[in-house]
Amino acid sequence: MPEIPVVIISGASRGLGAAIARWLAKVGAAVTLFARSGDALAAVARDVQQLGGAALVYKGDVADAGDCRTAVVRTLERFGRLDAVVNNAGVFEPLAPVSSSEVDRWQYNIAVNLLGPFYLIRAAISALREQSGRIVNVSSGAATTSIKNASAYCAAKAALNHFSRVLAAEEPRLTVVAVRPGVVDTQMQDIIRQKGAGVMSAEQLGYYQNLKANGQLEKPQVPGRAIAWLALHGPRDFSGQFLDYDDPRISRPALEFFGAQLA
Ligand SMILES: NC(=O)c1ccc[n+]([C@@H]2O[C@H](COP(=O)([O-])OP(=O)(O)OC[C@H]3O[C@@H](n4cnc5c(N)ncnc54)[C@H](OP(=O)(O)O)[C@@H]3O)[C@@H](O)[C@H]2O)c1
Repeated sequence: MPEIPVVIISGASRGLGAAIARWLAKVGAAVTLFARSGDALAAVARDVQQLGGAALVYKGDVADAGDCRTAVVRTLERFGRLDAVVNNAGVFEPLAPVSSSEVDRWQYNIAVNLLGPFYLIRAAISALREQSGRIVNVSSGAATTSIKNASAYCAAKAALNHFSRVLAAEEPRLTVVAVRPGVVDTQMQDIIRQKGAGVMSAEQLGYYQNLKANGQLEKPQVPGRAIAWLALHGPRDFSGQFLDYDDPRISRPALEFFGAQLA
């Protein structure tokens, strides 16, 4: 019997993280679902079990280094090994120009989007080395594009990409990638459309509103499948790269491996 792969997914209570968990469940993986909303995590855990996976719910904040350590400790206690970490938890706000951004909200964005991955990886790295494991850091097009009034988010994602490169160079036994998941129909986009009014330029806001109105936002299942595949099978020679979820080197084998439908 092959070993069951074990994956920690941060931000697994909804959106992209929940979709990643469901694909992994479909192939019988064990997942630790890490986020702040306990009820939502419990609902995702029920889906995971129905799809054939095993789930551990861990309610915590990735901005807290102690919570990240505990997530790893509980995973190892429950499942005995760790094959991959998906750093998917993210927040977009504050939505404000640098000149009027609130300092504590800017700091919290960096704490979630950049320090969180560092804390979780720091805690997981020795267990990951034992499996020659994988780390998938969910980044964004914002890492390389200037989105006005989203300086913390853009800076955090740019730093996450370069952190991934440095980590890949330091850890030759691990496969470390950053991924752009596209523009995805999740609560993060709801927040941009709702709170962007009056803050973003009409052109910027219109771009996001039109994607939603025209049905052009990506469904979380699509980048979720690509990221789930990278967590289980991401090739070693991708390590250090910033990848696109729809790169055919990823999307094709992901479709082949997981199939088109979840259930
Ligand atoms: N949606 C897009 O268009 C888009 C585009 C590019 C990149 N991304 C990236 O994709 C990832 C997933 O975002 P999404 O679109 O699925 O957004 P979402 O629906 O808002 O989900 C964000 C997830 O992160 C969790 N989270 C937020 N802060 C957390 C914290 N401090 N500790 C633990 N968990 C936390 C949330 O759970 P709780 O609130 O329960 O903690 C939730 O599960 C993010 O890294 C985001 O930057 C999204």
